[in-house]
Amino acid sequence: MERKLTEAVSWNGIIDWDLKSFHGEEYSTWSGSTYNAFVVRGKDKTALIDTVWMPFADEFVEELEKNVGLDKIDLIVANHGEVDHSGALPALLEKRPDLPVYCTANAVKSLKGQYHKEWNFQVVKTGDSLDLGGGRVLTFVEIPMLHWPDSMMTYLSGENILFSNDAFGQHYATHSLFNDDAEPELLMSEAIKYYANILTPFSPLVTKKIKELLSLNLQIDIIAPSHGVIWRENPTWIVERYLEWADNYQEDQILMVYDTMWEGTRKSAEAVAEGIREASPTTRIKLMNCGKVDKNDVVTEIFRSKAVLVGSPTINKGILHSVAGLLEQVAGLRFKSKKAAAFGCYGWSGEAPGLIDKHLKEGGFEMLGEQLKVLWNPDDETITAAREFGRKFAGFAGK
Ligand code: FEO
Repeated sequence: MERKLTEAVSWNGIIDWDLKSFHGEEYSTWSGSTYNAFVVRGKDKTALIDTVWMPFADEFVEELEKNVGLDKIDLIVANHGEVDHSGALPALLEKRPDLPVYCTANAVKSLKGQYHKEWNFQVVKTGDSLDLGGGRVLTFVEIPMLHWPDSMMTYLSGENILFSNDAFGQHYATHSLFNDDAEPELLMSEAIKYYANILTPFSPLVTKKIKELLSLNLQIDIIAPSHGVIWRENPTWIVERYLEWADNYQEDQILMVYDTMWEGTRKSAEAVAEGIREASPTTRIKLMNCGKVDKNDVVTEIFRSKAVLVGSPTINKGILHSVAGLLEQVAGLRFKSKKAAAFGCYGWSGEAPGLIDKHLKEGGFEMLGEQLKVLWNPDDETITAAREFGRKFAGFAGK
Protein backbone atom coordinates (compact mmCIF):
# COMPACT_ATOMS: atom_id res chain seq x y z
CA MET A 1 0.00 0.00 0.00
CA GLU A 2 1.17 3.53 -0.69
CA ARG A 3 -0.21 6.76 0.80
CA LYS A 4 0.81 10.26 -0.19
CA LEU A 5 2.04 12.64 2.50
CA THR A 6 2.95 15.26 -0.09
CA GLU A 7 3.54 15.17 -3.82
CA ALA A 8 7.12 13.99 -3.27
CA VAL A 9 6.75 11.90 -0.14
CA SER A 10 4.76 8.73 0.40
CA TRP A 11 4.15 6.28 3.23
CA ASN A 12 5.01 2.76 2.14
CA GLY A 13 4.84 0.88 5.44
CA ILE A 14 2.70 -1.83 7.00
CA ILE A 15 -0.35 -1.53 9.27
CA ASP A 16 -0.22 -4.40 11.76
CA TRP A 17 -3.77 -4.69 13.09
CA ASP A 18 -3.09 -8.09 14.65
CA LEU A 19 -0.14 -7.13 16.85
CA LYS A 20 -0.99 -7.70 20.51
CA SER A 21 2.47 -7.67 22.04
CA PHE A 22 5.77 -6.03 21.21
CA HIS A 23 9.35 -6.61 22.34
CA GLY A 24 8.32 -10.22 22.87
CA GLU A 25 5.74 -9.99 25.64
CA GLU A 26 7.17 -6.85 27.23
CA TYR A 27 4.73 -4.33 25.78
CA SER A 28 1.02 -4.89 25.17
CA THR A 29 -0.24 -3.46 21.90
CA TRP A 30 -4.01 -3.72 22.19
CA SER A 31 -4.43 -1.14 19.42
CA GLY A 32 -2.00 -2.88 17.05
CA SER A 33 0.79 -0.85 15.49
CA THR A 34 2.28 0.32 12.23
CA TYR A 35 5.78 0.11 10.82
CA ASN A 36 6.13 3.35 8.96
CA ALA A 37 8.51 3.44 5.99
CA PHE A 38 8.67 6.41 3.64
CA VAL A 39 9.78 7.10 0.10
CA VAL A 40 11.10 10.56 -0.83
CA ARG A 41 11.28 11.31 -4.53
CA GLY A 42 13.78 14.08 -5.29
CA LYS A 43 14.49 15.40 -8.76
CA ASP A 44 17.69 13.36 -8.97
CA LYS A 45 17.41 10.66 -6.35
CA THR A 46 14.78 8.60 -4.57
CA ALA A 47 15.33 7.64 -0.93
CA LEU A 48 13.66 4.97 1.17
CA ILE A 49 13.51 5.87 4.87
CA ASP A 50 13.35 2.78 7.12
CA THR A 51 11.68 -0.55 6.39
CA VAL A 52 9.39 -2.87 8.38
CA TRP A 53 9.45 -5.84 10.74
CA MET A 54 10.75 -9.07 9.24
CA PRO A 55 7.44 -11.05 9.12
CA PHE A 56 6.23 -8.42 6.64
CA ALA A 57 9.46 -8.24 4.62
CA ASP A 58 8.25 -10.01 1.49
CA GLU A 59 4.96 -8.11 1.44
CA PHE A 60 6.84 -4.84 1.93
CA VAL A 61 9.30 -5.51 -0.90
CA GLU A 62 6.50 -6.61 -3.26
CA GLU A 63 4.53 -3.44 -2.54
CA LEU A 64 7.64 -1.33 -2.96
CA GLU A 65 8.26 -2.93 -6.35
CA LYS A 66 4.64 -2.32 -7.39
CA ASN A 67 4.30 1.26 -6.12
CA VAL A 68 7.80 2.66 -6.52
CA GLY A 69 9.91 0.17 -8.50
CA LEU A 70 12.96 -1.28 -6.77
CA ASP A 71 15.17 -0.03 -9.60
CA LYS A 72 13.98 3.53 -8.91
CA ILE A 73 15.36 3.56 -5.36
CA ASP A 74 18.81 5.13 -5.05
CA LEU A 75 19.49 4.89 -1.34
CA ILE A 76 18.18 3.75 2.02
CA VAL A 77 18.17 5.74 5.25
CA ALA A 78 18.14 3.46 8.31
CA ASN A 79 17.23 5.75 11.19
CA HIS A 80 17.47 2.88 13.70
CA GLY A 81 18.69 -0.71 13.62
CA GLU A 82 15.98 -2.38 15.71
CA VAL A 83 14.28 -5.21 13.81
CA ASP A 84 10.87 -3.58 13.58
CA HIS A 85 12.42 -1.01 11.21
CA SER A 86 15.30 -2.93 9.66
CA GLY A 87 13.63 -6.32 9.29
CA ALA A 88 13.06 -6.00 5.54
CA LEU A 89 16.62 -4.89 4.75
CA PRO A 90 17.88 -8.44 4.06
CA ALA A 91 15.06 -9.13 1.55
CA LEU A 92 15.41 -5.73 -0.10
CA LEU A 93 19.20 -5.73 -0.27
CA GLU A 94 19.23 -9.23 -1.68
CA LYS A 95 17.48 -7.74 -4.70
CA ARG A 96 19.43 -4.46 -4.68
CA PRO A 97 22.79 -5.20 -2.99
CA ASP A 98 24.31 -2.03 -4.43
CA LEU A 99 22.07 0.32 -2.46
CA PRO A 100 23.90 2.54 0.04
CA VAL A 101 22.51 2.40 3.58
CA TYR A 102 22.89 5.75 5.38
CA CYS A 103 22.96 5.30 9.15
CA THR A 104 24.92 6.14 12.29
CA ALA A 105 28.13 4.35 13.25
CA ASN A 106 26.24 2.58 16.03
CA ALA A 107 23.57 1.46 13.56
CA VAL A 108 26.28 -0.25 11.51
CA LYS A 109 27.14 -2.20 14.66
CA SER A 110 23.54 -3.17 15.35
CA LEU A 111 22.72 -4.04 11.71
CA LYS A 112 25.87 -6.12 11.32
CA GLY A 113 25.23 -7.76 14.67
CA GLN A 114 21.73 -8.75 13.72
CA TYR A 115 22.04 -9.66 10.04
CA HIS A 116 25.76 -10.50 9.64
CA LYS A 117 25.95 -8.80 6.24
CA GLU A 118 28.54 -6.43 4.78
CA TRP A 119 26.13 -3.99 3.18
CA ASN A 120 27.14 -0.70 1.59
CA PHE A 121 27.01 1.29 4.82
CA GLN A 122 27.47 5.06 4.64
CA VAL A 123 28.02 6.44 8.14
CA VAL A 124 26.44 9.82 8.87
CA LYS A 125 26.61 12.23 11.81
CA THR A 126 24.46 15.12 13.00
CA GLY A 127 24.42 17.87 10.38
CA ASP A 128 25.40 15.67 7.44
CA SER A 129 23.03 16.07 4.52
CA LEU A 130 22.11 14.45 1.26
CA ASP A 131 20.72 16.41 -1.66
CA LEU A 132 18.05 14.48 -3.54
CA GLY A 133 17.56 17.28 -6.07
CA GLY A 134 14.70 19.68 -6.69
CA GLY A 135 15.22 21.44 -3.35
CA ARG A 136 14.72 18.25 -1.33
CA VAL A 137 17.57 17.73 1.09
CA LEU A 138 17.82 15.14 3.85
CA THR A 139 19.67 16.26 6.99
CA PHE A 140 20.54 13.78 9.71
CA VAL A 141 20.28 14.37 13.47
CA GLU A 142 21.67 11.76 15.82
CA ILE A 143 19.47 11.03 18.85
CA PRO A 144 21.55 8.51 20.82
CA MET A 145 19.54 6.70 23.54
CA LEU A 146 16.20 7.84 22.13
CA HIS A 147 15.86 5.04 22.52
CA TRP A 148 18.91 3.08 21.29
CA PRO A 149 22.49 4.31 20.94
CA ASP A 150 22.10 4.02 17.15
CA SER A 151 18.94 6.13 16.75
CA MET A 152 18.72 9.18 14.52
CA MET A 153 16.10 11.42 12.93
CA THR A 154 16.06 12.68 9.36
CA TYR A 155 14.73 16.09 8.38
CA LEU A 156 13.57 16.73 4.83
CA SER A 157 13.87 20.36 3.82
CA GLY A 158 11.80 21.44 0.89
CA GLU A 159 8.88 19.47 2.40
CA ASN A 160 9.55 20.34 6.08
CA ILE A 161 9.06 16.80 7.34
CA LEU A 162 10.79 15.36 10.38
CA PHE A 163 11.15 11.57 10.16
CA SER A 164 11.53 11.09 13.90
CA ASN A 165 11.72 7.28 14.02
CA ASP A 166 10.55 5.90 17.41
CA ALA A 167 10.27 9.35 19.00
CA PHE A 168 6.70 10.74 18.96
CA GLY A 169 5.37 7.29 18.02
CA GLN A 170 2.54 5.20 19.39
CA HIS A 171 1.54 1.57 18.98
CA TYR A 172 -1.71 2.42 17.29
CA ALA A 173 -3.00 1.04 14.02
CA THR A 174 -5.27 3.33 12.04
CA HIS A 175 -6.37 3.02 8.47
CA SER A 176 -6.10 6.74 7.85
CA LEU A 177 -2.54 7.01 9.24
CA PHE A 178 -2.90 10.68 10.20
CA ASN A 179 -3.51 12.27 13.61
CA ASP A 180 -6.36 14.43 12.36
CA ASP A 181 -8.34 11.28 11.50
CA ALA A 182 -7.51 9.41 14.71
CA GLU A 183 -9.73 8.96 17.78
CA PRO A 184 -8.29 11.68 20.07
CA GLU A 185 -8.66 9.86 23.40
CA LEU A 186 -7.22 6.62 22.09
CA LEU A 187 -4.37 8.47 20.42
CA MET A 188 -3.54 10.28 23.66
CA SER A 189 -3.69 7.10 25.71
CA GLU A 190 -1.44 5.19 23.29
CA ALA A 191 1.02 8.10 23.06
CA ILE A 192 1.37 8.46 26.84
CA LYS A 193 1.60 4.68 27.31
CA TYR A 194 4.40 4.59 24.72
CA TYR A 195 6.26 7.43 26.44
CA ALA A 196 5.79 5.98 29.95
CA ASN A 197 6.88 2.46 29.05
CA ILE A 198 9.66 3.19 26.56
CA LEU A 199 11.01 6.71 26.98
CA THR A 200 10.78 7.42 30.73
CA PRO A 201 14.42 6.49 31.49
CA PHE A 202 15.62 8.85 28.79
CA SER A 203 13.59 11.90 29.81
CA PRO A 204 16.61 14.20 30.40
CA LEU A 205 17.81 13.37 26.88
CA VAL A 206 14.32 13.95 25.45
CA THR A 207 14.33 17.49 26.83
CA LYS A 208 17.88 18.16 25.64
CA LYS A 209 17.29 16.84 22.10
CA ILE A 210 14.00 18.67 21.64
CA LYS A 211 15.60 21.93 22.77
CA GLU A 212 18.47 21.28 20.36
CA LEU A 213 15.99 20.67 17.54
CA LEU A 214 13.97 23.78 18.39
CA SER A 215 17.16 25.88 18.43
CA LEU A 216 17.70 25.00 14.77
CA ASN A 217 14.51 26.92 13.94
CA LEU A 218 13.47 24.34 11.39
CA GLN A 219 10.05 24.70 9.87
CA ILE A 220 8.31 21.42 10.73
CA ASP A 221 5.02 20.88 8.95
CA ILE A 222 4.80 17.13 9.51
CA ILE A 223 6.30 14.79 12.11
CA ALA A 224 6.44 11.28 10.72
CA PRO A 225 7.38 8.74 13.41
CA SER A 226 8.04 5.08 12.67
CA HIS A 227 4.99 3.82 14.62
CA GLY A 228 1.41 4.98 14.67
CA VAL A 229 -0.10 8.12 13.28
CA ILE A 230 1.73 10.80 11.35
CA TRP A 231 1.38 14.20 13.03
CA ARG A 232 0.05 16.34 10.20
CA GLU A 233 -2.35 18.66 12.03
CA ASN A 234 -0.65 20.79 14.70
CA PRO A 235 2.48 18.60 14.90
CA THR A 236 3.92 20.70 17.72
CA TRP A 237 1.21 19.29 20.03
CA ILE A 238 3.14 16.05 20.51
CA VAL A 239 6.43 17.95 20.93
CA GLU A 240 4.83 19.99 23.72
CA ARG A 241 3.50 16.80 25.34
CA TYR A 242 7.00 15.26 25.25
CA LEU A 243 8.49 18.33 26.94
CA GLU A 244 5.78 18.07 29.61
CA TRP A 245 6.16 14.29 30.07
CA ALA A 246 9.96 14.54 30.23
CA ASP A 247 9.77 17.10 33.05
CA ASN A 248 9.08 14.70 35.97
CA TYR A 249 5.46 14.46 34.88
CA GLN A 250 2.77 13.80 37.48
CA GLU A 251 -0.91 14.42 38.05
CA ASP A 252 -2.72 14.75 41.37
CA GLN A 253 -3.14 11.00 41.45
CA ILE A 254 -2.14 8.28 43.91
CA LEU A 255 -1.99 4.71 42.68
CA MET A 256 -2.31 1.65 44.87
CA VAL A 257 -0.94 -1.37 43.08
CA TYR A 258 -0.95 -4.75 44.74
CA ASP A 259 -1.57 -8.46 44.41
CA THR A 260 -3.43 -10.48 46.99
CA MET A 261 -3.80 -14.14 48.00
CA TRP A 262 -6.75 -14.34 50.42
CA GLU A 263 -8.00 -10.76 50.08
CA GLY A 264 -6.22 -9.38 53.16
CA THR A 265 -3.87 -7.20 51.11
CA ARG A 266 -6.78 -6.06 48.94
CA LYS A 267 -8.84 -5.09 52.01
CA SER A 268 -5.80 -3.27 53.41
CA ALA A 269 -5.40 -1.40 50.12
CA GLU A 270 -9.02 -0.31 50.21
CA ALA A 271 -8.71 0.91 53.80
CA VAL A 272 -5.54 2.86 52.97
CA ALA A 273 -7.35 4.37 49.98
CA GLU A 274 -10.16 5.49 52.29
CA GLY A 275 -7.62 7.22 54.51
CA ILE A 276 -6.07 8.99 51.53
CA ARG A 277 -9.50 10.17 50.41
CA GLU A 278 -10.31 11.51 53.87
CA ALA A 279 -7.06 13.49 53.98
CA SER A 280 -6.99 14.57 50.35
CA PRO A 281 -10.50 14.46 48.85
CA THR A 282 -9.54 15.99 45.51
CA THR A 283 -6.71 13.55 44.78
CA ARG A 284 -7.63 10.91 42.21
CA ILE A 285 -7.07 7.46 43.75
CA LYS A 286 -6.75 4.30 41.69
CA LEU A 287 -6.41 0.68 42.78
CA MET A 288 -4.94 -1.91 40.41
CA ASN A 289 -4.36 -5.58 41.04
CA CYS A 290 -1.16 -6.18 39.09
CA GLY A 291 -1.86 -9.91 39.06
CA LYS A 292 -4.93 -9.24 36.93
CA VAL A 293 -4.39 -6.10 34.88
CA ASP A 294 -2.00 -5.30 32.08
CA LYS A 295 1.50 -4.50 33.35
CA ASN A 296 2.02 -1.69 30.84
CA ASP A 297 -1.22 -0.04 31.93
CA VAL A 298 0.10 -0.17 35.51
CA VAL A 299 3.34 1.50 34.40
CA THR A 300 1.35 4.19 32.59
CA GLU A 301 -0.64 4.87 35.76
CA ILE A 302 2.55 5.03 37.85
CA PHE A 303 3.87 7.54 35.30
CA ARG A 304 0.74 9.66 35.80
CA SER A 305 0.83 9.45 39.62
CA LYS A 306 2.57 11.66 42.13
CA ALA A 307 2.81 8.75 44.54
CA VAL A 308 2.31 4.99 44.63
CA LEU A 309 1.67 2.37 47.27
CA VAL A 310 2.81 -1.12 46.38
CA GLY A 311 1.47 -4.11 48.27
CA SER A 312 1.97 -7.84 48.45
CA PRO A 313 1.32 -10.53 51.01
CA THR A 314 4.39 -12.43 52.16
CA ILE A 315 4.95 -15.76 50.44
CA ASN A 316 7.99 -17.96 51.06
CA LYS A 317 9.63 -15.00 52.83
CA GLY A 318 9.26 -13.02 49.62
CA ILE A 319 6.69 -11.23 47.44
CA LEU A 320 4.21 -12.42 44.86
CA HIS A 321 5.68 -12.81 41.38
CA SER A 322 3.40 -10.23 39.74
CA VAL A 323 4.61 -7.60 42.20
CA ALA A 324 8.23 -8.73 41.82
CA GLY A 325 7.97 -8.43 38.02
CA LEU A 326 6.47 -4.98 38.29
CA LEU A 327 9.20 -3.80 40.67
CA GLU A 328 11.87 -5.00 38.25
CA GLN A 329 10.14 -3.19 35.37
CA VAL A 330 9.75 -0.01 37.41
CA ALA A 331 13.40 -0.04 38.55
CA GLY A 332 14.56 -0.01 34.92
CA LEU A 333 12.30 2.93 34.07
CA ARG A 334 14.01 5.12 36.71
CA PHE A 335 11.04 7.30 37.64
CA LYS A 336 11.94 10.57 39.32
CA SER A 337 10.21 12.81 41.88
CA LYS A 338 7.67 10.20 42.91
CA LYS A 339 6.84 9.18 46.46
CA ALA A 340 6.01 5.68 47.62
CA ALA A 341 5.30 3.29 50.44
CA ALA A 342 4.86 -0.46 50.83
CA PHE A 343 2.21 -2.54 52.50
CA GLY A 344 1.00 -6.09 52.76
CA CYS A 345 -0.64 -8.83 54.76
CA TYR A 346 1.17 -11.67 56.45
CA GLY A 347 0.52 -14.63 58.68
CA TRP A 348 3.98 -15.71 59.82
CA SER A 349 7.23 -13.98 58.88
CA GLY A 350 6.04 -10.82 57.03
CA GLU A 351 9.03 -9.84 54.89
CA ALA A 352 7.10 -8.55 51.84
CA PRO A 353 6.59 -4.85 52.74
CA GLY A 354 10.26 -4.46 53.71
CA LEU A 355 11.41 -6.04 50.45
CA ILE A 356 9.08 -3.86 48.39
CA ASP A 357 10.30 -0.79 50.24
CA LYS A 358 13.92 -1.67 49.46
CA HIS A 359 13.18 -2.26 45.74
CA LEU A 360 11.28 1.00 45.38
CA LYS A 361 13.99 2.97 47.17
CA GLU A 362 16.63 1.47 44.89
CA GLY A 363 14.38 2.36 41.95
CA GLY A 364 14.57 6.06 42.87
CA PHE A 365 11.31 6.55 44.78
CA GLU A 366 11.21 8.77 47.86
CA MET A 367 9.91 6.46 50.56
CA LEU A 368 7.58 7.29 53.44
CA GLY A 369 10.02 5.59 55.81
CA GLU A 370 7.55 3.15 57.29
CA GLN A 371 5.48 0.30 55.94
CA LEU A 372 2.01 -1.00 56.66
CA LYS A 373 2.13 -4.62 57.81
CA VAL A 374 -1.20 -6.29 58.45
CA LEU A 375 -1.21 -9.52 60.46
CA TRP A 376 -3.66 -12.12 59.18
CA ASN A 377 -6.94 -10.91 57.80
CA PRO A 378 -7.51 -7.28 58.80
CA ASP A 379 -9.95 -6.71 61.68
CA ASP A 380 -11.55 -3.42 62.73
CA GLU A 381 -8.44 -2.35 64.57
CA THR A 382 -6.08 -2.99 61.66
CA ILE A 383 -8.54 -1.40 59.20
CA THR A 384 -8.47 1.70 61.37
CA ALA A 385 -4.67 1.59 61.39
CA ALA A 386 -4.63 1.20 57.59
CA ARG A 387 -6.88 4.26 57.21
CA GLU A 388 -4.54 6.22 59.45
CA PHE A 389 -1.62 5.03 57.32
CA GLY A 390 -3.49 6.32 54.25
CA ARG A 391 -4.02 9.74 55.87
CA LYS A 392 -0.36 9.92 56.75
CA PHE A 393 0.66 8.88 53.24
CA ALA A 394 -1.63 11.52 51.69
CA GLY A 395 0.15 14.17 53.76
CA PHE A 396 3.56 12.84 52.66
CA ALA A 397 2.49 12.69 48.99
CA GLY A 398 1.07 16.18 49.14
CA LYS A 399 4.26 17.82 50.38
FE1 FEO B 1 10.41 0.84 16.82
FE2 FEO B 1 13.24 0.94 18.65
O1 FEO B 1 12.07 0.28 17.38
